[in-house]
Amino acid sequence: MTDLARYRPRGTAEIQLPCPDLAPALDYFVGQLGFRIETIFPADDPTTASLSGHGLRLRLAPGEGEPGLIRLPCESLPAEDERVLIAPNGTRIVLVAADASFSMPALAPEFVLSRAAEAESGPGRAGMRYRDLIPSRLGGRYIASHITLPEGGPVADWVHFHKVHAQMIFCRRGWALLVYEDQGEPFLFSVGDCVLQPPLIRHRVLETSPGFEVVEVSSPALHETLADHDMALPTGRLDPARDFGGQIFHHGRAAATPWTAHGDTGFEVRDVGLSGASGGRISAEVLRPAAKDHLAIAARNVEFLLGFVLSGAASLAYQGHHGLAGADAFVIPPGEVWGLEHASKDLEFLLVTAPA
Ligand SMILES: [Fe+2]
Repeated sequence: MTDLARYRPRGTAEIQLPCPDLAPALDYFVGQLGFRIETIFPADDPTTASLSGHGLRLRLAPGEGEPGLIRLPCESLPAEDERVLIAPNGTRIVLVAADASFSMPALAPEFVLSRAAEAESGPGRAGMRYRDLIPSRLGGRYIASHITLPEGGPVADWVHFHKVHAQMIFCRRGWALLVYEDQGEPFLFSVGDCVLQPPLIRHRVLETSPGFEVVEVSSPALHETLADHDMALPTGRLDPARDFGGQIFHHGRAAATPWTAHGDTGFEVRDVGLSGASGGRISAEVLRPAAKDHLAIAARNVEFLLGFVLSGAASLAYQGHHGLAGADAFVIPPGEVWGLEHASKDLEFLLVTAPA
């Protein structure tokens, strides 16, 4: 492999597009698309020009090859069939939304049972192992992942953010050092803690213990992760009430959240407080048996309901009986009645819901 650094690249790199006839292409790129000419030659009969515009530098030059495709972000867009422009040299210019956030697909509800023992994890971003808890993604509306970092230490993460409707992370094992935009110094995220990541908040995972494990739920399933190369974290500001698209950052600490009676079900609950922070978009709670070893859940007006066994074992009563062990997960379709039976004394399970 060429060690490019030896040659000390300098100046502005250009993307070269073949252009057999410079004059009409130049008229189009400059007159229609708003590029400006940086260099042009030869002076008497120009065949080659360098242009800059929209953050891009191009070189139009004679030669063979694909005429290329330019994605041009715009604040507003013409009708769908008018979003592709074609320059005289054949280059296609595709107009795209400048801040395409995300689209929310319709919910395709189904019962899902994901057993840890049968699961395979695939490699994900920044050295993490991802286990997809809902392969169907419920039509693309939700994604839930069991993420593990087998090896601890500094994490090869960078300052980034997500374009999402709702996103939460729950710590099952180990700890991580996290830092979020305008939320002060890096903090320890440990077992039983939950974080609400409001849309667009810049953040970074700095370090984890070995065997760090989280459950992450995001909506919609397909959303963009974007790097922010310009922001350093921590920002030096502490603004816990800062609004991010109608949501605020929240770190629910298990150690600071008492167990309370879960109605009269004989179970106890620890509500880590996401509902308020997310403006009602998502909530998370941990349940465990107290006086009883079985739990009946009435039909609730939620469009999303994920259970994840943090520890212990139980039997899920829904369309039959299904044995559940640690790290098993299930999704119950909206408006259904379900329950748990034969809960072991050490059962703890995470319940993540989103209202209909
Ligand atoms: Fe992230």
